[in-house]
Amino acid sequence: MISTTAKADVKAQVRAWKRAGESIGLVPTMGYLHEGHRSLIERAAAECDHVVVSVFVNPTQFAPGEDLQSYPRDIEADSALCEDAGAALLFHPAPEEMYAPDFCTFVDMDAVSKGLCGASRPTHFRGVCTVVSKLMHIAQPDRAYFGQKDAQQLAVIRRMVRDLDMNVDVVGCPIVREQDGLAKSSRNTYLSAEEREAALVLSRAVAQGRQLVEAGETCAARVIEAMRATIEAQPLARIDYVEAVSWDAIEPVESLEGSVLVALAVYIGSTRLIDNFIIER
Ligand code: PAF
Repeated sequence: MISTTAKADVKAQVRAWKRAGESIGLVPTMGYLHEGHRSLIERAAAECDHVVVSVFVNPTQFAPGEDLQSYPRDIEADSALCEDAGAALLFHPAPEEMYAPDFCTFVDMDAVSKGLCGASRPTHFRGVCTVVSKLMHIAQPDRAYFGQKDAQQLAVIRRMVRDLDMNVDVVGCPIVREQDGLAKSSRNTYLSAEEREAALVLSRAVAQGRQLVEAGETCAARVIEAMRATIEAQPLARIDYVEAVSWDAIEPVESLEGSVLVALAVYIGSTRLIDNFIIER
């Protein structure tokens, strides 16, 4: 596996692969990789000739006061996981490699990114879209792989790729969970033992919502109310949002018909965790 911090190295390798007519899968990450990331890399390796993984804690998607400085980092462990999962190239640039001192061009959107996480993190998706666009220009992938845990991010990237006619297939991959149900996240490492136990309330609320839907409930408000009551019963939990939205435009829905995303963000202590499920009917 090639490991580099230089975008020129990535571009040169990508040119060689393209000349040979070989396909490229991109897995953009912020590192501190876990089994969820591994599932993306393995899927990309199964579907593409070469897999590029980026590890970059992207400053433009963090607001002042968020966890940019404390975000966990371990490039050695990440490198070992990437190689083991079948990546051909690991790109782990420094911020200066991605953002010139006079950088001033951003990718933003007027919808999709404004609700859910965008409501409490108003500049977050502008940073995500900007860095993902840059990574796509650098790695020129045929396919790019994203986890469904960040469901709004997946919808935002799909819209950006469609709106900007980017020549890449966006592949959404299922949420990977711990054995007890907690969705895998690099931020789970922030949780104390007591908070880790309390965090199970997210996957319990998801399971409860899913059961209600499977039992035939179509009223979004009733499902959300039941999920909120479950979360509110956990003293360490504070709800940011529990919402049902259309699974493409991310606009609120009243009825759970068609493609619907039921998403939640909950603070456990000071750690903000997200989870979701998707209804297709
Ligand atoms: O999901 C993430 O880890 C990040 O938002 C991404 C897509 C790598 C962009 O920095």
